[in-house]
Amino acid sequence: MQQKSFYSLIIFTILTLIHVVTARDLRNVTEPKIPQICISLKATGKDDSTFIQKALDSCTKGKAVALSSGIFNSGPLTIPSGVSLLVEEGVSLRALPTASLYDMGTNACGTIDEYGLGCKPFITIRNAVGSGIYGKGTIDGRGSSKMTGTNRTWWQKARDALSVHKLQNNPRLIQINNSVDITLYQITLKNPPFYCVATSETYGFTAWAVTIYSPGGSPNTDGIDPVGSQNVTIAYCNITTGDDNVGIKALTAPGRHVSVLNNHFGRGHGLSIGSETNYGVSDVTVSGLTVNNCANGVRIKTNTFRGGLITNVKYDNVCITNAEYPIHLDEDYYHIHGTATPAIKNITISNVRVLTNGTYRIHGLSKSNPIEVTLINVHIAKGSKFSISNANIKGNWIEDVTGGSCGLHGNV
Ligand SMILES: *[C@@H]1O[C@H](CO)[C@@H](O)[C@H](O)[C@H]1NC(C)=O
Ligand SMILES: *[C@@H]1O[C@H](CO)[C@@H](O)[C@H](O)[C@H]1NC(C)=O
Ligand SMILES: *[C@@H]1O[C@H](CO)[C@@H](O)[C@H](O)[C@H]1NC(C)=O
Ligand SMILES: *[C@@H]1O[C@H](CO)[C@@H](O)[C@H](O)[C@H]1NC(C)=O
Ligand SMILES: *[C@@H]1O[C@H](CO)[C@@H](O)[C@H](O)[C@H]1NC(C)=O
Ligand SMILES: *[C@@H]1O[C@H](CO)[C@@H](O)[C@H](O)[C@H]1NC(C)=O
Ligand SMILES: *[C@@H]1O[C@H](CO)[C@@H](O)[C@H](O)[C@H]1NC(C)=O
Repeated sequence: MQQKSFYSLIIFTILTLIHVVTARDLRNVTEPKIPQICISLKATGKDDSTFIQKALDSCTKGKAVALSSGIFNSGPLTIPSGVSLLVEEGVSLRALPTASLYDMGTNACGTIDEYGLGCKPFITIRNAVGSGIYGKGTIDGRGSSKMTGTNRTWWQKARDALSVHKLQNNPRLIQINNSVDITLYQITLKNPPFYCVATSETYGFTAWAVTIYSPGGSPNTDGIDPVGSQNVTIAYCNITTGDDNVGIKALTAPGRHVSVLNNHFGRGHGLSIGSETNYGVSDVTVSGLTVNNCANGVRIKTNTFRGGLITNVKYDNVCITNAEYPIHLDEDYYHIHGTATPAIKNITISNVRVLTNGTYRIHGLSKSNPIEVTLINVHIAKGSKFSISNANIKGNWIEDVTGGSCGLHGNV
């Protein structure tokens, strides 16, 4: 018995030693290819929900339903396993702003309450393998449209909710749950009433050359939130939002093996990890990132309410302009407290240029459990400010940048 556990200890030790941390999507991801078309649809000018859903439900697995001309208006849609939706160039698919269409049976959709869980998403992908959304067309969530039968838009309702510290019940644009190998390619996603794209416990997710746009003052319109998901690649995307451009979270399962490559961010809250990190976020590579006019550049936010271990995160080749907090690592996000201990360890930030002055904010919770971060070749603008506590920082800030401009994807 004792001998057995001794051998298991040795085997465990050997396995740990040979385990090489690979801080990225473990798949070899290449540019996606648009699937063959099973049927092409032309917009009818009426409510196209049933028309599109029937085509999706009868499409052969491995193929795509093409929306090939006009403006489609629809309520919630579900993309079945193996099937894709192709929105061709010049075509748009618009979410009807009628709250009752998205209601989950409690009449909460379109109202304000304590939970914010009253609406179905506009597009749902659930328990699917190999589904996707493709094409150079546009999916428009119409967050700025008045909800049918009311004088308020989805976003006004969201701001009303914020002002009374409650939550709006608005539909997310695309929700992907418990799925495998899901692709978004080339599509433009705009004006989501709530989060734009969120995945939950999805293993294998690629967003490639996706454009996301929400105007200023559109609350909670996070661009892409991989939540408790693994093997995630977000590449060549252009994301302008009213909240986190990307938010990597771990609410119900670990978030691991995430690659964020060659992206361009306009207005928003920046590239975030957290705040929900209960199950831990690890093995993340961010490379080739330009951030313009965002509140934050790279940000990790967590607290004792939804804290966990955030580790093996590498940021490389990042260029930032006009960010209030170009680098922002915070273990006391919103001062919300609970019993989950956050930890931010093994964070490497290399080959960074920050062209305008800002505040570098790194706040660990305690001296005994400091934020551990390594800086390599980090050049920042003169006149920057520092607010740093409970942090163990290796390397230096080099304050020598005087203007210049960013490349499309980071410094090139
Ligand atoms: C990815 O490509 C490398 C190099 O070609 C190969 O060694 C590795 O096995 C591939 N990984 C997967 C998951 O296909
Ligand atoms: C991630 O991808 C690798 C390589 O394809 C695969 O071996 C691994 O099982 C995937 N992880 C998950 C959680 O699906
Ligand atoms: C919307 O506002 C107009 C003008 O203030 C008012 O006449 C109308 O009754 C309102 N409609 C609803 C559905 O609240
Ligand atoms: C997807 O998962 C999230 C988070 O677990 C959950 O809140 C939501 O209800 C799920 N949505 C669907 C359509 O299954
Ligand atoms: C990003 O998309 C916006 C529209 O949302 C567009 O105006 C801008 O030119 C795009 N930027 C890049 C670098 O592609
Ligand atoms: C730290 O993270 C990097 C990935 O960024 C990884 O390669 C390395 O093994 C990690 N170091 C430790 C001590 O875990
Ligand atoms: C920071 O940048 C702003 C805007 O360019 C400038 O007005 C200000 O003087 C700078 N602050 C310092 C301390 O250099």
